[in-house]
Amino acid sequence: MVTTEPQLKENLTQWEYLALNSELNIADGHARQALSPGQQKIVNELPVLWAESEQRPVQQIESEAHQAYFTLLGQHSYPAQPGRVLSCYSSSVSMEILARSLSAAVGKVALVHPTFDNIADLLRGNGLELVPVEEDALHGADLPAELLSSVGCVFVTTPNNPTGRVLAEERLRRLAEQCAEHGIVLALDTSFRGFDAAAHYDHYAVLQEAGCRWVVIEDTGKLWPTLDLKAGLLVFSEDIGLPVEKIYSDILLGVSPLILALIREFSRDAAEGGLADLHAFILHNRSVVRRTLAGVEGVSFPDPESRSSVERVAFAGRTGTEVWEELQRHHVFALPCRQFHWAEPSDGDHMVRIALARSTEPLEQSVQVLRTVLETR
Ligand SMILES: Cc1ncc(COP(=O)(O)O)c(C=O)c1O
Repeated sequence: MVTTEPQLKENLTQWEYLALNSELNIADGHARQALSPGQQKIVNELPVLWAESEQRPVQQIESEAHQAYFTLLGQHSYPAQPGRVLSCYSSSVSMEILARSLSAAVGKVALVHPTFDNIADLLRGNGLELVPVEEDALHGADLPAELLSSVGCVFVTTPNNPTGRVLAEERLRRLAEQCAEHGIVLALDTSFRGFDAAAHYDHYAVLQEAGCRWVVIEDTGKLWPTLDLKAGLLVFSEDIGLPVEKIYSDILLGVSPLILALIREFSRDAAEGGLADLHAFILHNRSVVRRTLAGVEGVSFPDPESRSSVERVAFAGRTGTEVWEELQRHHVFALPCRQFHWAEPSDGDHMVRIALARSTEPLEQSVQVLRTVLETR
């Protein structure tokens, strides 16, 4: 962990660092709620998983983890042959590998706006020029041909962070067909997919049928409170035409079999009812936030349909940064939304994002403080 002085907040993650040691951390999107009974049972058996991880070939454990995770998400057509899904220590590591690979062949990327800023930062950091695509345009109709002929890749976060918007199957199909027509790569970050059943369709089958070159970054890290023991999974079409495997091998030998075994066990627990329970838990926490803030003048929730584990709160008057300053005096840490709007930061000026993957009691306590702050003028 890097500690950062309050005045040096260059990106969303630097805001999130400031919250890490607070009991009232509603800033980052990592899962921090208490373990469910089923998950606790898995953790109690960690020594057994450790022994298994020592004794069995890593490839077997990895393929079981992939199978359990993809099946959970309805992602049935994943490539199961060894080496076709590249396991990374986090989705940001997958993203860095993808960005470096793209920079070998591509100059410009069309990227959804807003989205989590490290996607924009890692693409730019690898020399790629970005063109913003507003969410409404992406979810509405075909993208303009002039845009598609000017870029080498379209990058979409679905469900998006922070808005929770999911690319519907038919929209993905059309977008993939357009990318195929223009011979460009379609890249998806599906890190928040587990939270929304609308995103549990077979994305790879759609991409493959449309005939485009595609890359998907999956992420086990947002779903379960595994103390950041997680994996980013980098999956791509055989005809991708980018040096993804070479760059992966520049950076990683692989992910710990213990982490892969944990992912397998958490996925199986989720398939046996844990995921439905998690959805109900997030729904409940979202209703606690909306109820606690109900009736505060000028407050609204811009993402009424979101099923994701984050919730934006918009307000009139003060900026998100000013509200952050007042909250932190009470040791509450939310996330100002400015930097999600990587191309137009002022679009996010009057919002904060609240993490819902938290135990309900501290979440409610934090949102009570937010209510007081928003009511005080
Ligand atoms: C959409 C999205 N992708 C990737 C990441 C990066 O995840 P990690 O910090 O686990 O690398 C985040 C972080 O919140 C995110 O919101």
